Amino acid sequence: MIHLLTGKFVAKTPEETLLLGIKLSQSLKMGEVIALYGGLGAGKTVFAKGIAKGLGIAEDVTSPTFTLLRQYEKGRLPLCHFDLYRIEDEQELEQIGFYEYLGGENICIIEWPENAAGLKADICVRIDGSGSEQRHIDIHTKESSHDHIGS
Ligand SMILES: Nc1ncnc2c1ncn2[C@@H]1O[C@H](COP(=O)(O)OP(=O)(O)O)[C@@H](O)[C@H]1O
Ligand SMILES: [Mg+2]
Repeated sequence: MIHLLTGKFVAKTPEETLLLGIKLSQSLKMGEVIALYGGLGAGKTVFAKGIAKGLGIAEDVTSPTFTLLRQYEKGRLPLCHFDLYRIEDEQELEQIGFYEYLGGENICIIEWPENAAGLKADICVRIDGSGSEQRHIDIHTKESSHDHIGS
């Protein structure tokens, strides 16, 4: 699959990060999995909000840190937004049926993909920077790089 938005970007503000998410959303296809790498406060949820907005999801997208998953059905494509920060082992992932969501009739966005060893993402996004710093955002697909960032 060809994605229009791959490469390295700088986002000086949260709005610029949001805009990159919106742009990426425009080429997303049913079943695609997006892994969002980056430390606490890097801007993964901001980026996810951009994707949701771009998919036409009008609801407020909030961090699924405590719920692990939030689902949004009303956009161009159904969205599953995961935050695996609190996952400690593969068994917990199996309990929530994590792997069954991937590649289904949805788009899956995953924060803290490092905590799912068996995850294969179609698109990897790495956000570097924190606090009020500008963010360096690297977006690549399986086709655009053979490296696996973040692992
Ligand atoms: N350029 C930027 N891009 C994204 N977030 C930024 C940027 N500059 C400052 N921020 C702030 O950093 C925080 C990122 O939070 P969040 O998206 O929840 O991070 P994460 O999900 O990676 O833990 C927000 O409070 C946001 O306003
Ligand atoms: Mg987050």
